[in-house]
Amino acid sequence: MKRILLIVGGGIAAYKACELVRLIRKAGHSVTCVVTAGGQHFVTPMTLAALSENQVYTTLWDLKDEAEMGHIQLSRAADLVAVAPATADLLAKMAAGIADDLATTLLLATDKPVLAAPAMNVRMWQHAATQRNVATLRGDGVTVLEPDEGPMACGEFGPGRLPEPEAILRAIEAALAPSSGRLKGKHVLVTAGPTHEPIDPVRYIANRSSGKQGFAIAGALAALGARVTLIAGPVALPTPAGVERIDVETAREMAAAVDAALPADAAVMVAAVADWRTGDAAGQKIKKGDTAAPALTLVENPDILAGLAHSAHRPRLVIGFAAETERVVEHAIAKRARKGADWIVANDVSGDVMGGDANLVHLVTESGVESWERLAKADVARRLAERIADAL
Ligand code: C5P
Repeated sequence: MKRILLIVGGGIAAYKACELVRLIRKAGHSVTCVVTAGGQHFVTPMTLAALSENQVYTTLWDLKDEAEMGHIQLSRAADLVAVAPATADLLAKMAAGIADDLATTLLLATDKPVLAAPAMNVRMWQHAATQRNVATLRGDGVTVLEPDEGPMACGEFGPGRLPEPEAILRAIEAALAPSSGRLKGKHVLVTAGPTHEPIDPVRYIANRSSGKQGFAIAGALAALGARVTLIAGPVALPTPAGVERIDVETAREMAAAVDAALPADAAVMVAAVADWRTGDAAGQKIKKGDTAAPALTLVENPDILAGLAHSAHRPRLVIGFAAETERVVEHAIAKRARKGADWIVANDVSGDVMGGDANLVHLVTESGVESWERLAKADVARRLAERIADAL
């Protein structure tokens, strides 16, 4: 039995919080509800109290509650804090660390895992401010679910619907699963980010890559207890907890760092390595207008993944990524054979995957192709890490 503190925000989806309370109870957990002022317009504390068979909290200034159970204690007595529906306003306050009512104060005071299930109008969800807040929260370790897509109460269509209560419960249970240490004693290598191939001291050739997916995978592997060496191209991302990071710039540096980090039990090559570098990078900045536009002579870079897969020190499990804009699975199957990888994680980058926080992937293995639903990069990472643990 786990204790869930459920914060119900203001929004039409708040009515689904009632079903969520019922499901949490049915799964054998206890739930204590906190309803924001907005939430109380859509669902009454009485309803939630009856369904949860627990006192419902609504205000920071109820001295009786403060005497019986201070807000700090309320936020820590739980095993997990879930926010459903998480409105744009709640997400913004959480990201900014604002504590101006009971719900936000509990969220700032808690030391427990926090999971947020967003629900809002599609434009509000897609707004740069909300996306920035979601990215901040994920960076802070909050599990922010992707909203469902479909017709909305406001008449518009798109992502923004509260995920179904069953899906929220599954996510709560996944977040509660004790970090199993399933990869304890295993060493996993991860490459991430782009490489920069200098043209001269100020210019370079590179692929588009934020490094987010690779960093998330490194973090998820470390969370399962693996020793993780993350070989990162030039990206501006914080190092995930428990990960040893080696920064490199070029493909050749990345290849050397991979080599030096061996042996490993598994390797996940997520980096978007530049396929070519200039034959001889200029020692000084090439001046515009001195001559005609310079012609670049390109030389092929080493294929780090293929090299590792065919080396004498091949890790037991070698995983490559394939970013494709068309015929995604077909290309991935061919790539798996060509590179000598055990698995290829194929991602469809025809949309806004690059730099974004969600990913649509297919896992291509010896036994076939598995297509995953559109997931947050953090969830792709967690699922892949679990699969790696299964395989090792
Ligand atoms: O050939 P392509 O770049 O599409 O292959 C992608 C996969 O190969 C990714 O896993 C990437 O990290 C890896 N790769 C590599 N070294 C290269 C090119 C790609 O490790 N030079």
